[in-house]
Amino acid sequence: MASELEAPAKEVPPAADPNVPATHPSKQTVDPWNVAGEVGEDGKVKAIDYNKLVEEFGTKLIDKEILERFERVTGHKPHRFLRRQIVFSERDLGVILDRYEKGEPFFLYTGRGPSSDSMHIGHTQIFDFCKWLQDVFDVPLVIMLTDDEKFLFSEKRTVEEVIGYSRDNCRDIISIGFDPNKTFIFSDYEFMGGAFYKNVTRFAKLVTYNQAKATFGFDESSNIGKIHFTSIQGATAFATTFPHIFGDDEKKVASIPCLIPCAIDQDPYFRLTRDCAARLKYAKPSLIHSRFLDALQGPGSKMSASIDSSAIFMKDTPKQIKDKINKYAFSGGQVSAEEQREKGGNPDIDVSYQYLQFFLENDEELAKIGQDYREGKLLTGELKAICIKHLQEYVAAFQERRSKATDETVKLFMSVRPLKWGGNPRAQRI
Ligand code: TYM
Ligand code: TRP
Repeated sequence: MASELEAPAKEVPPAADPNVPATHPSKQTVDPWNVAGEVGEDGKVKAIDYNKLVEEFGTKLIDKEILERFERVTGHKPHRFLRRQIVFSERDLGVILDRYEKGEPFFLYTGRGPSSDSMHIGHTQIFDFCKWLQDVFDVPLVIMLTDDEKFLFSEKRTVEEVIGYSRDNCRDIISIGFDPNKTFIFSDYEFMGGAFYKNVTRFAKLVTYNQAKATFGFDESSNIGKIHFTSIQGATAFATTFPHIFGDDEKKVASIPCLIPCAIDQDPYFRLTRDCAARLKYAKPSLIHSRFLDALQGPGSKMSASIDSSAIFMKDTPKQIKDKINKYAFSGGQVSAEEQREKGGNPDIDVSYQYLQFFLENDEELAKIGQDYREGKLLTGELKAICIKHLQEYVAAFQERRSKATDETVKLFMSVRPLKWGGNPRAQRI
C-alpha cells in the first residue's frame, strides 16, 4: 500500500470493471487515495463492503434509533441519504444532537481537494447533504479547499494550477446554494497563518512519524509534506482555528465541537484528529460518513475527478451526460431484451439504479423502478433513460446557478469575516 501512495497515477485507482478478471484475489482497500473492492477467487471486483468498514474503522452504523432521535430533536424528516443508508455511519453524532437540543454551539466542517477544474456529481451530493444539515441546524459551516494537499500528492500539478482549481471549485461549491452569512470557504494556501497555523503545529507536535505511517501507509521515500499534511486537515476541526467566527476566548471556544460530513475514505484523518483533540483538551469532532457514488464502470470503485470516463462532471453538457451513461454505465441487466423480460435485472449492481438512489427524492418511485427492473418489466435502456433525464436536470439547474456566481461572490465567501447565524430559536450565538 505504501508504494501506491507514492505513485501519482495511482492517487485514485483506475475504476474497477467487475467484468475484467484481476490476476489474483486481493483485499478491499479504502483510504483517502484508494478505493477498491475485494477481488474474489473468480477475479471479479466486488462491491465495497461498508459493514466491514464500520467494523474495521470502529465507527457506528446509523440505526433506526438515532434517526428517530434526529427527527424528534430537529423536527425534520431524515434526508433521503439517511433514510437509504447512503450516509450510513457516524462517530458521536449523539453528542451533536445533545448540544442542538440544549442550544449549545457547534459547527459543520467539510472539504474538497481541488484536483480538477470541475467537481463531479459524487462531490456535489455530499455538499448538497451539507447544505441540508446547515439549513436544519442553522450553524456555521467551514469548507476547506486543500490545494496544498493536491500539490503535495501529485508529481505533475503546480502550485499555481491547484490554486486555480480552488477558485473554480469554490464557485462550484457556492452554486450548491450555501448561505454566505453562515459559510466560510478557504484555500489552505491563502488562509494558512495566525490561529490556524498555531493549531497545525500543536497537532503536528503530537503525531509521530510512526503514527502517520501506521495510519496512512507512508514510507521512508514519502515526501515530508505528505506526512505533515494530516495536521492541516486535522487542525481545521478545532473551533479555535477560526477566531473571526467564534471569537478570541480560546478557553471557551476550545469546547465547541464540529460535525464533519464526508465520505468514509476521509475517516483516517479524523481518527487521528479525535485522538489529538483529546490530548489538546479541545472538543473531539463528530463525524457522519457517506458511501461512495460508484464510478460509471461499476461497484467496487468510486467516481473520481482524475479519471474522465469514470465521472459525470458538473460542467458536462446534456449530450455528454447521455453518451457517458449509455456508453459506460455498468448494467445489472441481461444481454438481450428477451432475456431481460424473462429473467429480470439486478438493480443492486446497476450503476444507473445506484445513481437514482442518490438523486431521486421520492421513495415510492425509486422502489417501483427497482422492482420493475428486477421483474424484467423495465429494460436497461429504459432505466438508463430515466437516470439520464434526472442527471441532465440536476446538472442544468446547477449550471444555471453557477452562471450567477461571480468573482465577487467567490471573494465574499472566501473573505475572513464574522459569520451570522442563529435565526433558528434552537441555535444559539456564542
Ligand atoms: P475530495 O476532494 O477527494 O472529496 C471531497 C468530498 O467528497 C467525497 N467524495 C465522494 N463522495 C461520494 N462519492 C464519490 N465518488 C466521492 N469522491 C469523493 C470525499 O470523501 C469528501 O468528503 N482531503 C479532502 C478535502 C477535505 C475534507 C475535509 C473532506 C479537507 N477537509 C473534511 C471532508 C471533510 C479531499 O481531497 O476530498
Ligand atoms: N483529504 C481530503 C481528500 O483527499 C480532502 C479533505 C480535507 C476533506 N478536509 C476534508 C474531505 C474534510 C472531507 C472532509 O479527499
